[in-house]
Amino acid sequence: MKRIGILTAGGDTPALNATICGAVQQANALRIEVVGLIRGYAGLLDARVPHVMLNPLFSSIPELDPCKGGTLIGSSRTYVDSADTAMLDMVRQHVTRLRLDGLVCIGGDGTINGMQALADILPCVLAPKTIDNDLGLNYLDEPNEWTRTPSSQAPGYLEQRRRSRDHLRLDDIINYATPGFATAVFVVVQMVERLRTTAESHHRIAVVEVMGRQSGYIALGAAYAQPDIILIPEVPVNIARLTQHVARIYEQQQNVVIVVGEGVRTDDGQELGAAVASRDPAGNIRYSGAADALVQLLQESLGDDLFAETRAFEPGSSPLFGRKVGHTQRGGRPILFDRFCATQLGGKAVELLVDGRSNEIATLQYSESQGFTFSSIAANKLRDRWGEIHPREVHPGFYDAERLQLSTLGMEYLKPIFTRAVGADDVEYIRREVFDAGCLSNRYQSINTDIRKRIRYL
Ligand code: F6P
Repeated sequence: MKRIGILTAGGDTPALNATICGAVQQANALRIEVVGLIRGYAGLLDARVPHVMLNPLFSSIPELDPCKGGTLIGSSRTYVDSADTAMLDMVRQHVTRLRLDGLVCIGGDGTINGMQALADILPCVLAPKTIDNDLGLNYLDEPNEWTRTPSSQAPGYLEQRRRSRDHLRLDDIINYATPGFATAVFVVVQMVERLRTTAESHHRIAVVEVMGRQSGYIALGAAYAQPDIILIPEVPVNIARLTQHVARIYEQQQNVVIVVGEGVRTDDGQELGAAVASRDPAGNIRYSGAADALVQLLQESLGDDLFAETRAFEPGSSPLFGRKVGHTQRGGRPILFDRFCATQLGGKAVELLVDGRSNEIATLQYSESQGFTFSSIAANKLRDRWGEIHPREVHPGFYDAERLQLSTLGMEYLKPIFTRAVGADDVEYIRREVFDAGCLSNRYQSINTDIRKRIRYL
């Protein structure tokens, strides 16, 4: 293997440059050239195929910095359609002209679908990333729990999941955590902590919406900020029960903090957060509005009496407020845990290609005896019998649906990731850089602008 391509696809995460770095370092050691394809699969489809040599003479270019968020080579949600033969022929020509012997795709489940089509053209492997932490399995036979029954509604069948296996051992999890997840939780935890003090001072109820689509891992991780209630998409919300719960907590402490995963549903099947439903090219729903919808529902169901004493003489100011953490969860400097996993997974992906594997995913495994190790799984093992990859859901054992909180097993799951997730250099970075006087006089220095000088075209 002399020359490989690498691309980043889907939504960005803070650890993408770290993954690219890990892959390039491994390639340097094995004397393999690495070509960065610009803007994910969109770059491969572009007639001029913009690309950049990431390790001329087998040393990494200086713009490649594992501590920078975003992705040096850009990303897009464009995917390669396996049914479009003209598109595939064009990709084949581009791959031949670039002289690529293999391809590392850095992405999530949508990226695997794009990679599947390419695996017939050249060996392809995936280095996982997603802040949603939904790429992987709770246990190996999980995809077989999906069923399809004929239905008159589009797409002609109803997709359902049988009840999950009750018992889960942490060692069973395939791909324990994905790079980007830890940093997203780090950001969320700080925001929730800060909102708490406003809720306390003004006797308010704060509803904080976090990302994650249909998976509630980021919401669960927010447990480190000690919110009173956590709502995850996997467990439908009963508004009447939630109202009672909120009222009880408010009576005790005169403030409540609720964290809600953006894909949360009510128990009548309504998605709270798809208020502005739209779909991206990969077919994912774009969620928006869960916090606002919940604020509205709680405003109606709680009524005014609950606030009569604590908020008397404050007309016009609502006791409830919703806030969305938004894209800050996906941006900026990755914390140590993410940098570590990402670089190792990038390196592992290159090793997989060198070992002759294709359509394979590099994974992070955990066991109590060994800690974290790096392994791999065939991409098809993530598919159900109809070939579909489902986002990994939070296992029911991780969530206490009575208390609307993280369960004991959920705590055991989070601890290996977060106990030492923040490095001393992460702290030092804040101390040194945030109020660096140079920021006032110098313009923002973008590595994505710098790299443009190195971009080549076919
Ligand atoms: O999949 C990552 C993610 O950040 C989700 O958590 C979120 O719903 C979505 O991407 C947002 O996508 P976009 O940046 O395209 O709005």
